[in-house]
Amino acid sequence: MTASRKSVNRETIMRNLEPSYYTDPDMFRRECERVFWRAWQMLGPADAVAQPGSYTAARIAGASVLAIRGRDETLRAFRNVCRHRGAQLVKHGSGSCSLLRCPYHNWVYDLDGSLKQTPWFGDGEDFDLADWPLEPVSVEVWRGLLFVAIDPEQSLTAQLADTIPELSGEPIETYRVQREERLVFDANWKVYTDNFVEGYHIPGIHPEFFQAIEFDAFETTAHDNLVRMSAPPREGLFYKGKWLWMWPNWTLSLFDGGMNTSRIDPLGHDRTELIYHFYFADDAPDTATARAQTIERNLDVVRQDFEICIETHANYASHGYRPGPLSPRHEQGVAWFQNRILAAIDH
Ligand code: FES
Ligand SMILES: [Fe+2]
Repeated sequence: MTASRKSVNRETIMRNLEPSYYTDPDMFRRECERVFWRAWQMLGPADAVAQPGSYTAARIAGASVLAIRGRDETLRAFRNVCRHRGAQLVKHGSGSCSLLRCPYHNWVYDLDGSLKQTPWFGDGEDFDLADWPLEPVSVEVWRGLLFVAIDPEQSLTAQLADTIPELSGEPIETYRVQREERLVFDANWKVYTDNFVEGYHIPGIHPEFFQAIEFDAFETTAHDNLVRMSAPPREGLFYKGKWLWMWPNWTLSLFDGGMNTSRIDPLGHDRTELIYHFYFADDAPDTATARAQTIERNLDVVRQDFEICIETHANYASHGYRPGPLSPRHEQGVAWFQNRILAAIDH
């Protein structure tokens, strides 16, 4: 035991990030510009934009976007920002409409983003509706999930990378969303991500979850834009025993006959929102109670992480912490994520 510990080369032990990466508002601005506004963002079920006029609007690290299906069946996405004086066109969430009417001064856009009417605007010789369409952003659907990107630096499939083969055997597009849940807490988004990509904290923070898996067989491996965690489940665990985190900020955990996804969206440098969706193959009324229980037990596990993340963030902000070592056994995912962040914001 001692010998094998000594054999680990100290040079290879990674250290946690400097706390300023979590607490400095300037660092957060760099992450917005170099990570969130350049990467594909998973916005939930593509079902929400299946019908003409149906839309999903969301915030991406503060930038508001809108994906909407046109009358011509084409899926488009735009900045959810009026070209007049910048009001938000539709509220965040999913819905449907026949036109996009800005709530501020009633400018009207068609579903394809073209400006149609500007009531009471007045005549101007050089004002032409055609000059003021909504600003487009990129949109794609992958296996039933909706993705948008403001200014993508790579294709969606290049970003998904090793996630594509990892999920090839799972029928994720056959699952239907049954619930959305939003949770907000006061910690930097990377404090939560560091926590998500390691199972090292399961014995301390999730005692019931710990009892329900073979923790000694817990495995964490870092791949291209993917951290994969797995453990053999014991009887009665609602998880299937595989948890995935994808660069830069979404997760997918498998149940038997279903899954959850989440997007980790920063509301600021010290506040984060999780947008969870729960999907199941089965939608029979007589099994609805069991599905609701699965969702509640899953949310209990998610909430158990908040307190430790909030307190850890406060310690980083207090200048009371210097970077400690990362476990070679359990924190390869943390090391991979932190290195990826450094590469993204330092170039
Ligand atoms: S900001 Fe939209 S109509 Fe004025
Ligand atoms: Fe956790």
